[in-house]
Parts: sequence; C-alpha cells; structure tokens
Amino acid sequence: VKHLLGIKYLNEKDIQLIFETADHFKEVINRSIKKVPSLRDITIANIFFENSTRTKLSFELAEKRLSADVINFSAGQSSVKKGETLIDTVNNILSMKVDMVVMRHPNPGAGIFLSKHVNASIVNAGDGAHEHPTQALLDSYSIREKLGDVSGKNVVIVGDILHSRVALSNIFALKLQGANVKVCGPKTLLPKYVESLGVEVETDLRKALNWCDVANMLRIQNERLDISYFPTTREYTQQFGVNKKLLDSLDKEIVIMHPGPINRGVEITTDVADSKQSIILNQVENGVAIRMAVIYLLASKIK
Ligand code: CP
Repeated sequence: VKHLLGIKYLNEKDIQLIFETADHFKEVINRSIKKVPSLRDITIANIFFENSTRTKLSFELAEKRLSADVINFSAGQSSVKKGETLIDTVNNILSMKVDMVVMRHPNPGAGIFLSKHVNASIVNAGDGAHEHPTQALLDSYSIREKLGDVSGKNVVIVGDILHSRVALSNIFALKLQGANVKVCGPKTLLPKYVESLGVEVETDLRKALNWCDVANMLRIQNERLDISYFPTTREYTQQFGVNKKLLDSLDKEIVIMHPGPINRGVEITTDVADSKQSIILNQVENGVAIRMAVIYLLASKIK
C-alpha cells in the first residue's frame, strides 16, 4: 500500500514494522545525527485544512530529517478561500512534481476520497472525527517504550470518544496489539457502536483508573460539539477530570497520556499533566520518529 489512511487498514505486522523503523530513527536522532539522506529524491506537501501544532510541525521535521523536499500549505491562506476544490488544489500541487501528500482535513473520509482521485501517496494527518493514525501509532509506541509492551496492558481512553479521531485510531491500534481497552466518559460523548469495536464502557472514572495501567485523557473538542447535549465544563471536570488528589488515591501508579492540546484544568490538572506519571511530552518526541518511519516506509513503495 502506498497510503496511510487509517489504522483500520493496517495489521499487527505493519505496526511492528513501523515501530522497529521508528526505533532505528530514534536511535539515530539520539546520537545527535539529526538528518539522514534517505529521501533526497522525494518531495512532500503538507496540506492542512485545520489548525495543528504537533502534527504539522512533527511531520515537517520528520520529512526534513529524512532529507525530503517539503512544501507547506495552509488552506486559510490559499486559493481554497476563492472556491478552489480539494481535488483541483491537490492536482495543482502534484503538477509541481510532488510525490506525497500529508493532509489534515475537517471532513471524515477526506483522505480516502483524495486517494481515489489523485495520483500520489496520501498520509492522513487527521480527518474530522474519523482517524488520526500517526497519533495512535505514537501513542502505542510511547506505551511500549514506557511499559515494555502494549500486549496485555489495560488502557482506558477517557473523555469525548464520540468526536475523537484519536480515540478511534487508538482503539484499532491497541486491539491489534492485544491490549485490553475501556472507554470512559459521559454517555452523551460515547458513540452507541463503541462496544462493537471490542471495548468495554466504564462510566465511573475512579473504577476505570483503578483498572488501568494507562489512562489516555482526551481533550473536549468544543469545535465539534453540539453544546445542547454536552454536560457543562464544570460537571465534566467534576466527573471525568483527573487531578493529583484522585491520582494519589488510586490503588497503583498509572501512566497518564494526552494527545494535546490540553485544556488545563478541564480534563486534566496542571499538576497531573506535568507530573512524573505523565508521558505527554514523550508522546510528542516520539511523534517525530514515528512520522519518519511512516514516510520512509511509504516512500519505499513509490520510489
Ligand atoms: N495531537 C494533535 O493532533 O495535535 P495537533 O492538533 O496540535 O496537531
């Protein structure tokens, strides 16, 4: 396959290959070798129709560390604002001899749609509430790094599961690797089909935290919420927010993750986000090695 459109299209072996390749790149970076010549003949366009800090910058850094040529496109400053379509936009970019497109888009399935209409390798950098495959890969990679393995670990994903591409991609990735997965959040933010994905629902946060090895705390996605069925922010924080007092009262020490950006004081307090139990910045660091691995492996299919 020359695309990464979602974890749904990967198998366990694909994930292990990505992790082993990321191990190699992480080891190279840790030796202060910040650039390898692997992709000198590849040109990549990062096209973002939605805001991003971590994903956008770490893709760009990963591409530059592989010596690819990189162009960046933000829809807000482009001719999309004059009415140009997605396919026209991408075909114009591709006519400049671009080989690969990394795309973030607010519409679920935008990457799949694009892959059917243009002749380039497509990497999904987040498509609406659908998938965010590289986030799930870096999340599992960070669990593997911290706990030695993902298989057999108990992972709870807490928060706005309904609108979260991070949740869906993580569920697929964790299940493929043999983790036990629960989701925890208000019923209004849990999709009805979630149990059909092989995960259990736990609406009591304390029970969920006492069960898990890892808690992945999701951001409340205010930009995707119909405010009429959302619990108030204060109610949400009271029932589903993690603070240091709650963390310290658990039966065991758990690992805290968050994909970012954090709503500090809502889903997680500052003393938890910045605690020793938090691997949030390790996740960000690992995002570069994971994205190097994904781009390197996909480029080998198109060279
Ligand atoms: N985790 C994540 O996707 O963050 P950004 O939206 O900043 O890229």
